[in-house]
Amino acid sequence: MQHPDAWESVSGQTMGLELGYLQRLVAALPGGAVVVELGVCQGRSLCALALACQGTDKVVYGVDDFDPANPGYVTPDFDSTKANVERLGLGQWVRIVKSDSTRAGLDWRGPKVSLLFHDASHFYDKVKADLLAWLPHVEGYVCLHDYTGEDEGQIGVSQAANELLGKPIEVHPRLGVFRWTGEAKTSS
Ligand SMILES: C[S@@+](CC[C@H](N)C(=O)[O-])C[C@H]1O[C@@H](n2cnc3c(N)ncnc32)[C@H](O)[C@@H]1O
Repeated sequence: MQHPDAWESVSGQTMGLELGYLQRLVAALPGGAVVVELGVCQGRSLCALALACQGTDKVVYGVDDFDPANPGYVTPDFDSTKANVERLGLGQWVRIVKSDSTRAGLDWRGPKVSLLFHDASHFYDKVKADLLAWLPHVEGYVCLHDYTGEDEGQIGVSQAANELLGKPIEVHPRLGVFRWTGEAKTSS
């Protein structure tokens, strides 16, 4: 059993404040819960989510197209993600999906998603497309990274989320948290 902070050894942008919060949400989910992360990079937050699943039958899907041209100071990489998951012994709780984030939602045939964590493209149009593709599969929480970001590269996150999800139940320095019960506000 790994320490819950073992994600710290994985390169990435996510921080203890939001990852600890997400781990507590995952721990409170019922047995068998499915968690989906959009935006994996090299697996830092994916491993944090999986660490909270240890000893349970919960599972985390991590979706990323792993295109090295995507913006960010850490290069998205499938092989590094797989290696990080294996090094931490988390393979039992992780499924890595190499796909565009919206496409994966449109193609999803899995069970209902209890927690959707969004940290893929932060541009308004793409966040909105991701949410519209995934919301029909969610019954539980939707959390968006950089929800409080105000610069040009991040403001689209809160704009799209507020438009589709309404009011957050909590706002953290880098995380917007919403409850979602399946009633999509799909008006554009
Ligand atoms: C901010 S990083 C994610 C950081 C990660 N959560 C962590 O803890 O290190 C954003 C990720 O979104 C991915 N991404 C961007 N656009 C995407 C798309 N259209 N489909 C799938 N993944 C995408 C990038 O490849 C990148 O890995």
